[in-house]
Amino acid sequence: MTLRHGYFTGAGYTYDAQSEPSPERLAFLALLNRHRPPEISGPFQLLELGCGQGYNLCLQAANYPQARFLGIDFNAEHIAHARSLAAASGLVNVRFEQADFLELEQASGDLMAWGDFDFTVAHGILTWVAPEVRLSLMRLAERALRPGGLFYVSYNTLPGWLPMLPFHHCVSSLQATLGDSQPALDGARDLFQGLRQANGQVFSSQPDLAQRLEGLGQFDTTYLLHEYNHSHWQPLYANEVIEPLRELGLGYLGSATLSENFEGLVPVPAQQQIQRQSDPALRELVRDLLTNQTFRRDVYVKGREPLWPGEASAALEQVRLCGLVDQDALGDESSYLFTLSWGQFQANRDWIRTILEGLWDGPRSLAELGALLPSGTPQPTLVLNLCLLLGRNAVALVPGERDRGPSQRFNAHIGASVAAGAPYTLLACPVRATSTGSPGWSSSPSTP
Ligand SMILES: C[S@@+](CC[C@H](N)C(=O)[O-])C[C@H]1O[C@@H](n2cnc3c(N)ncnc32)[C@H](O)[C@@H]1O
Repeated sequence: MTLRHGYFTGAGYTYDAQSEPSPERLAFLALLNRHRPPEISGPFQLLELGCGQGYNLCLQAANYPQARFLGIDFNAEHIAHARSLAAASGLVNVRFEQADFLELEQASGDLMAWGDFDFTVAHGILTWVAPEVRLSLMRLAERALRPGGLFYVSYNTLPGWLPMLPFHHCVSSLQATLGDSQPALDGARDLFQGLRQANGQVFSSQPDLAQRLEGLGQFDTTYLLHEYNHSHWQPLYANEVIEPLRELGLGYLGSATLSENFEGLVPVPAQQQIQRQSDPALRELVRDLLTNQTFRRDVYVKGREPLWPGEASAALEQVRLCGLVDQDALGDESSYLFTLSWGQFQANRDWIRTILEGLWDGPRSLAELGALLPSGTPQPTLVLNLCLLLGRNAVALVPGERDRGPSQRFNAHIGASVAAGAPYTLLACPVRATSTGSPGWSSSPSTP
């Protein structure tokens, strides 16, 4: 059986990257929540716990040649791929080490410069590992950070995953009986098809179950094995993560799903329910119960360094963005309807088009974009519109002034690899922060 601490290791994970845990996105989120973000235009350090194939970290290393990146994963196949991708792309500022969180926590060696990292990132791990590994990951994240540093963690959330608990239980039970992963996954899918045909009451007690099972068809087998075949797969309620992290000294800052940071989007009756709780962890729990949350991308801080409102606002004015689509790319009227966790939000079509048009000539700062909108448009309104566009991958935050050579070399290697059949889908962003000439960018980290 290919399990380690109950974690499925029978096949390599996908070759992906995410925009939410990128340094520019985390720094932006910190500004939105009035915490002084790590300085990302100079040298900084980022640690990824459970870095998988290393694609995400190589892409960030290409975007930030002045920074240093460390990736940890216990899967030798992942580390081998990550190292060869870094070497083939000519990256000299990223390092990958094979290590198990449980063992790393006990180690006293010099694998990591404890307490020196500006960011720690753990995407898609927390609720797929055994409880002792989860705690170990949390402790490592805290220990690695310098005071004021940010921890990004994403995880499957309750109550949104409730309908799938019986399905996962069956995958896990079949895996224990059959001793093999793929037959266990296939067997559970067969079983639930049969249960549905037999009008099994689990389907009427869990109204979303049928649709969720049908949805499995859109994912490839590797992804599904990595989602369901871990023995300790356990979606958590928000307070089950916020409280232990708080005890370790990491305070909840906000959501890297940017639109979730705008209280003004929350309907008034829902706001009242949230505000009835004085504890921030319980407020997040109530928020998830109101929206039936399935996945959280949370950011924590090790010692908050508050920015006064004027300081945060001035820092936001300097943030630079680039456009990834032109103003006609959004299409018809319905494209200005954004689906958020609180339901549909109708954005102002003219403002969205003005922003996209403004960015088509090259990157601009938030202050420059503000000047294009009707005078008197408050900064929070512009920021909200930008967050909606960031969520759609229609715009991207610009990583800052730096040497473009590494991102161009990385992209050239990715292009050649894709031509040779590699499954990579994302490119680094070679835009220079102060460029006002031709766009010259390709894709942001999150752009398929
Ligand atoms: C679902 S993958 C996510 C990979 C990457 N963060 C991404 O989003 O593409 C989870 C990763 O955590 C690693 N992992 C799980 N348990 C671990 C442990 N105890 N120690 C180190 N790595 C672990 C796995 O090998 C896997 O690469």
